[in-house]
Amino acid sequence: MPRASLEKRPHEVAAMFDEVAAKYDRTNDVLSLGQDRRWRRAVVEALDVRAGERLLDLAAGTGTSTEPFADAGVLAVPCDFSLGMLHAGRRRRADLAFVAGDATRLPFADGAFDAVTISFGLRNVGDVDAALAEMRRVTRHGGRMVVCEFSHPTWAPFRTVYTGYLMRALPAVARRVSSSPDSYVYLAESIRAWPDQRGLARRISGAGWTDVEYRNLSGGIVALHRAVRA
Ligand SMILES: C[S@@+](CC[C@H](N)C(=O)[O-])C[C@H]1O[C@@H](n2cnc3c(N)ncnc32)[C@H](O)[C@@H]1O
Repeated sequence: MPRASLEKRPHEVAAMFDEVAAKYDRTNDVLSLGQDRRWRRAVVEALDVRAGERLLDLAAGTGTSTEPFADAGVLAVPCDFSLGMLHAGRRRRADLAFVAGDATRLPFADGAFDAVTISFGLRNVGDVDAALAEMRRVTRHGGRMVVCEFSHPTWAPFRTVYTGYLMRALPAVARRVSSSPDSYVYLAESIRAWPDQRGLARRISGAGWTDVEYRNLSGGIVALHRAVRA
């Protein structure tokens, strides 16, 4: 059963997502207790893309994060490097123009998009700084970026309870609903090792993005980071 390590070697990460692809969306709904739908609506609001604008949804997986944009008339391009996730996406939403591509070497021209977003993907990329730089390269001047990613609850008592859920309950539940429960051990470990809200904001600024700001969702279980391409 493939399970990526925290070194996040690209072929291991892609193989892990190939394995979970078939049950990915159902497992997400169960493990997030339905919260993921609310988080996705918040991404759409934060990005404020208009019909006719071009949007890159990076690490789009099965296209679940792309759908709300496409449904609003945005020219949304889902891109991912797991062929298993892309195939599952094509079966679900044949109307979306899925593109195979690695976040650290994007197959798009400079300034090709009005906006770029990545949901629950950046944490899995081996070279986060390279991905943030690539996202900036393909965004036009004045364009926007939103990163939606698991983060760290801000209230200490809640953080303790949540860490217990992540490390114990989540892998146990995943054993019942996922096709690859080991990958949910990786999920828990990778969330714990991920930078906190301010740490990620610094990384985004370091990659050349400006006007970086963030907002917490569900008490900081998830954070949305927003930035502008100067
Ligand atoms: C948890 S899924 C998120 C999918 C989707 N964005 C969503 O919100 O449901 C993470 C995705 O990141 C993709 N990914 C990880 N590293 C990547 C990379 N370097 N380039 C492209 N995609 C990558 C994986 O293949 C996987 O489909």
